[in-house]
Amino acid sequence: MANGRNNKLKVGVLASGRGSNLQAIIDASEKGGLAAEVICVVSDITDAYALERARIHGIDAVHVNPKDFANKQEYEKQICRHLKEHGVELVCLAGYMRIVGPHLIREFPNRILNIHPALLPSFPGLHGQRQALVHGVKFSGCTVHFVDEGVDTGPIIIQSVVPVLDDDDEETLSARILTEEHKIYPQAIQFIAEGRLELRGRKVLLEKAETESHYPAIQNPGVEI
Ligand code: GAR
Repeated sequence: MANGRNNKLKVGVLASGRGSNLQAIIDASEKGGLAAEVICVVSDITDAYALERARIHGIDAVHVNPKDFANKQEYEKQICRHLKEHGVELVCLAGYMRIVGPHLIREFPNRILNIHPALLPSFPGLHGQRQALVHGVKFSGCTVHFVDEGVDTGPIIIQSVVPVLDDDDEETLSARILTEEHKIYPQAIQFIAEGRLELRGRKVLLEKAETESHYPAIQNPGVEI
């Protein structure tokens, strides 16, 4: 899948907030261990810090205001045009707080990833960490998955598990989960860049690497075929 001027998979990131996952992807790419690079960042929020992070790294960053469009489809058409103009091959949602509509999904079939701060299918939607605490689970974590038309329902690529401690609050649990998010999102992108993921129904299978990956591997990313 990776191609283009420097043979790296071209990634477009959609973000609504502080952009720490975006930063993790940029850092992994700049360190040279990721066969992908962030080409552009789009935000629905004008002052999202994710935009600033992109600009610091010389990456194209734009705000697309949903209010400027008659409906969601027109808004997503604009995003799509922008991503395609930049040659984006993979779209990564990184703290993008909108439900992706059918237009974008059709234009990037099985080419949109999302990261969610819970072990899906538990606790989808908003405040995954808070939901886990309220429920009283002993373990939570994060999930990178393909995006389909549901809310956090797409096929799961990688999950990472963290303990929930008795004295955790939303802040401490979120921080523990975020550390894992920053590891598994670049890893999932690397799997895509290497063309190693195969979708069989809801299952995402991981082909064995031909050569040792340069990216520090997560030990147990999924089913090896
Ligand atoms: C992350 O915890 C991400 O998993 C979550 O928002 C945070 C964004 O942080 N995403 C969702 O809840 C999506 N439903 P970041 O802006 O620092 O990457």
